[in-house]
Amino acid sequence: MNLSHLLSLLTLSLLSTLISSQPFLNSLEQESLYQVLESINSDISWRSLFPDDLCYSSPHGVVCEYFMKSGAGAGEESVHVTELSFGFISDYSSNPPCNNHSKINVPALSAFKQLKKLLFYKCFTGYEVPVPEFEGFGGVLEDLVFIENPSLVGPFKGDIRSLGSLKRFVLVGSGVSGWVPHGLGELSSLEQVTLSRNNLSGDISRVNVSKLRNLKVLDLSYNGFFGYLPESFGGLESLLKLDLSYNEFSGEVPESFKGLKKLEFLDLSYNKFFNCGVPLVLGEMSSLKEVYLSGNDLRGEIPEIWENLGGISGLGLSRNGLVGNIPGSMGLFLKNLCYLGLDNNKLEGSVPSEFGTLQLVSEFNLENNSLSGKIPFDAKFVSKVGKKLKLKGNSQLCVEEELRDGSFGDHLKHLKLCKKPDVPRLVLLHDSGSSVVLVSGVAMAVSWGLILFLVR
Ligand SMILES: *[C@@H]1O[C@H](CO)[C@@H](O)[C@H](O)[C@H]1NC(C)=O
Ligand SMILES: *[C@@H]1O[C@H](CO)[C@@H](O)[C@H](O)[C@H]1NC(C)=O
Ligand SMILES: *[C@@H]1O[C@H](CO)[C@@H](O)[C@H](O)[C@H]1NC(C)=O
Ligand SMILES: *[C@@H]1O[C@H](CO)[C@@H](O)[C@H](O)[C@H]1NC(C)=O
Repeated sequence: MNLSHLLSLLTLSLLSTLISSQPFLNSLEQESLYQVLESINSDISWRSLFPDDLCYSSPHGVVCEYFMKSGAGAGEESVHVTELSFGFISDYSSNPPCNNHSKINVPALSAFKQLKKLLFYKCFTGYEVPVPEFEGFGGVLEDLVFIENPSLVGPFKGDIRSLGSLKRFVLVGSGVSGWVPHGLGELSSLEQVTLSRNNLSGDISRVNVSKLRNLKVLDLSYNGFFGYLPESFGGLESLLKLDLSYNEFSGEVPESFKGLKKLEFLDLSYNKFFNCGVPLVLGEMSSLKEVYLSGNDLRGEIPEIWENLGGISGLGLSRNGLVGNIPGSMGLFLKNLCYLGLDNNKLEGSVPSEFGTLQLVSEFNLENNSLSGKIPFDAKFVSKVGKKLKLKGNSQLCVEEELRDGSFGDHLKHLKLCKKPDVPRLVLLHDSGSSVVLVSGVAMAVSWGLILFLVR
């Protein structure tokens, strides 16, 4: 008998023992699971609905796995609870439903030493539930997820350091306040930290995240964090997404951000970055796909930093007190632009003709600036972008008749008509009026009574 035969025979016999003598969930986990289910929803009589082994016939939302012992007692099997999800999501994943009295039974939850995933979805919506200490949740936990639990409140207590395998820490839409959990910065296995829409706050400037080498997503949006962005953020070399929008961060974007070589999504909008200009360091972050900086008070002119940013599809610079002209280089280099927001600034001059050549645009918002001159878009562009071509609030901007009156240009009706086709910008008129000399190059100094003026 050769080796492969032997192996397949072994596998077969293993399978048959699996089927014939499925291991039981041990009594501690069985009893703890009843207690956890009762703490989530005591209106359901879990013990009579599920009288058997809870891994053999488990309620939705409970996942068990089989483990094979190695070392002493090798080959012996056991079964453990590895995933728990609470809160009705849909008929297709009808997890144990929560109610107004749902609680988190931490002692019972800490009985599951093999628990990898723990999810609470719209579970704490009635009476307030203090956010639990996570220390007991076991060293193999990878996903700790709370989504839309407005009654989960209070500050984090204790230390999260013992969750050494944690990859995803998600707490979205709760009433949790105060600072992030102690020890979060020590969890080097973390790939995602999403703490959006809570009541968290604190000064972030002295935070050192240098141990979070595997972090791909950091989302602190819609909280009350403040302070300067720490230099150490620039060391998050795996980071793909950084969302710090709707907080009170201030100062400027550190030079160290050029270390975020993989960053694709950067949202710093609606913070308190003041008078620091559009960050030049963006020009060195060549993986960027979406950049949102709206609703700060960056001020200054739009810099020429776009050469290496051809991957950008979304760019928001609205409401920033920006002045000066829109650089044509934006239209030249940002070939993948789908969304551009430059509205509610103090931009002037014309809309660069390069913008008219962009192929992928689906929304273009230049409202409420001081732009002037003829819009550089053709009929195809205007009909494709439609109502999402937003140009209102620029009283000196004009449109050619064909565009405004075409069926597709209805929404450009508010723009005035351009008076005449483009003429050379520099015109010299003979004072006798008999002959008109057009010179479009360098103006010459002339002594015999010429009038020199600029058109437009
Ligand atoms: C749950 O609590 C909310 C207020 O916290 C209340 O408006 C609602 O009626 C309660 N629902 C039930 C079923 O008791
Ligand atoms: C947010 O937290 C602060 C304390 O940090 C508290 O005074 C306030 O009531 C909380 N707000 C909400 C909506 O929970
Ligand atoms: C962050 O901590 C690391 C050690 O964990 C240290 O080497 C580094 O200098 C610190 N960085 C800052 C900016 O404090
Ligand atoms: C432009 O300003 C007007 C009047 O202040 C306002 O109603 C409109 O919403 C602004 N447009 C945008 C895109 O914010």
